[in-house]
Amino acid sequence: MNLPLPHPGLALAPASPQFIDHYNASGHGHGQPGAARELADGLRAAAASVSPKYFYDALGSQLFEAITLLDEYYPTRTEAGIFDAAHSQMAAALSGAGISRPCLIDLGAGSCAKAMRLIPHLQPGQYVPVDISVDFLRDAAEQVQNTYPELAIVGVGMDFSAALVLPPQVQRQDRVFFYPGSSIGNFSPDQALAFLQRIADPAQGAARGLLLGIDLVKDKATLEAAYDDALGVTAAFNKNLLRHVNTLLGADFDPRQWRHVALFNEAQSRIEMHLEARCELTVHWPDGERRFGMGERIHTESSYKYTLDSMSALLRQAGFSQIKPWTDAKDWFAVFWAAV
Ligand code: AVJ
Repeated sequence: MNLPLPHPGLALAPASPQFIDHYNASGHGHGQPGAARELADGLRAAAASVSPKYFYDALGSQLFEAITLLDEYYPTRTEAGIFDAAHSQMAAALSGAGISRPCLIDLGAGSCAKAMRLIPHLQPGQYVPVDISVDFLRDAAEQVQNTYPELAIVGVGMDFSAALVLPPQVQRQDRVFFYPGSSIGNFSPDQALAFLQRIADPAQGAARGLLLGIDLVKDKATLEAAYDDALGVTAAFNKNLLRHVNTLLGADFDPRQWRHVALFNEAQSRIEMHLEARCELTVHWPDGERRFGMGERIHTESSYKYTLDSMSALLRQAGFSQIKPWTDAKDWFAVFWAAV
């Protein structure tokens, strides 16, 4: 009895996505000078800080995925509910702007789980996940390719926070930027405006449109619980930054000497995360050191919260039009469509 055998390597191995590593190629990766300089400057400042982009080494990306499953962390599941309820209207907004097979550029794609919900509805001609966590993104892009074997994928490992110049493999026609999850909240409103302008700029992002997820202002207790969960996953995510800094800078942080702090700063409409020294200590790295007094903090993240009006105004100021938000029943989160 002859059963047909699958052709070896054919049935189980769809095409691999194209992948371009602009991050390690540009002097930022492990042991490279770009990140080390930025980190040392932040640690030596009177008010010490480290950019939240340094949360995302491979473990940090996994810890963030765990955060999205927590009861207290409402943004990811609330946004997913909005996508599920409004995907047809989102597709109609793109068609209405004359966009048919968009090049979908997913900023801070991470696991690509958010885009995976929309791909069947938006039918992109090309999917471009972009993330600073290069190895994590490489694996995620392969998963997307397994799910959608026919989809043209160009993964890009890069830090888009300073400049938004995409490699030539990325289609120039009908670019739609996808910036979900409220990640734009890591920028101050001024920086967010500049970033939105770069997305729209024909010489940079060259967007025709943008799908943007933002977290909305709400009561302080709900906000603070989302960033200080009972299991301590967000605390681990915050402290993991110290391990990553040890790797990138050659520093000797001991995570056990630091405490996770999360608070809502109402005046600035932002969640702040800090790491607070539990005792007096000194951190060393190859050409520097920093003493911290007991209780002294490193500011590791700001996560700005907007209202529908404040974000509409920012989008208009950045040059977008046809601005349309979708929200959930509690008005906890919003997804905006904005055309250029
Ligand atoms: C990925 C920036 C949207 O600000 O909610 C989650 C990161 N920090 N828990 C956020 C984060 C702590 C997250 N963003």
